[in-house]
Amino acid sequence: MHPVRRPPLDGEDSVNDGRPGLYRRMHPVHESAGADPARPQVFRARGLTKVYGSGEAEVHALAGVDLELHAGELIVLLGPSGSGKTTLLNQLGGLDGPTAGELWYRDIDLTHADEAALTHYRRDSVGFIFQFYNLIPSLTARENVALITEIARDPMTPEAALDMVGLSPRIDHFPAQLSGGEQQRVAIARAIAKRPEVLLCDEPTGALDVRTGIVVLEAIERVNRELGTLTVIITHNAVMADMADRVIHFSDGRVQRIHANARRARPDSLHW
Ligand SMILES: Nc1ncnc2c1ncn2[C@@H]1O[C@H](COP(=O)(O)OP(=O)(O)OP(=O)(O)O)[C@@H](O)[C@H]1O
Ligand SMILES: [Mg+2]
Repeated sequence: MHPVRRPPLDGEDSVNDGRPGLYRRMHPVHESAGADPARPQVFRARGLTKVYGSGEAEVHALAGVDLELHAGELIVLLGPSGSGKTTLLNQLGGLDGPTAGELWYRDIDLTHADEAALTHYRRDSVGFIFQFYNLIPSLTARENVALITEIARDPMTPEAALDMVGLSPRIDHFPAQLSGGEQQRVAIARAIAKRPEVLLCDEPTGALDVRTGIVVLEAIERVNRELGTLTVIITHNAVMADMADRVIHFSDGRVQRIHANARRARPDSLHW
């Protein structure tokens, strides 16, 4: 791949000289903090804009987003329906490109990366979790996770990934034999088995009841804490803001406000 590279940012060391440096800097950061400048910057967006359609049908889904996200952070992204949350997540995950503006992932310019570079980026660096689990019905939990570990660069075993989300006892079950929360935890194991630096979750508890939702959040929080995975969770549920390092309030395609929590609440202390 031929990503466009930039010089180190303020506060960065000088190992940003190619892929080895890129990966050397992915080790977990465990301190719980808000926008801690000591954490390496992972994403940097400037004036990120996404316009869908044209003429009268034009929708400014992103209307100039300026944002920095740092290694190991747990971010909750809150905002009304249609405010552009999924659009932003798709940009961060390299699933879609912007109309204007800049988006950097470490020293890779995602806005100008070609398809091959984006595929590489998604495969190596990003795990996705959606509201619906998208498991393959004819494969067991272990086999669903193994699909990903077989193509990953430095994966954990499917057994280790399923153990992280508390599913060892269900490893040989098919999706139809699992509850919704268990299926979502298989999806989490599948997303994190390749040890991505970034975990992007679009309403991961949207289809679940409160108790099950909390178990799923505990699994996500554990991955964030133990693997140091920068995690972004989109939700409509304002209660989940308490479990974040930082909460991004989004509306009309823009960041309206960012709030840093002095302490993160444990998922099992959340009630809604
Ligand atoms: N592929 C697309 N084509 C046209 N318009 C789109 C497309 N995707 C999103 N939009 C529009 O962009 C705006 C932002 O959509 P987005 O899905 O990002 O919102 P959201 O904040 O995730 O909403 P929700 O909470 O309902 O999921 C909406 O007005 C939506 O209709
Ligand atoms: Mg959405």
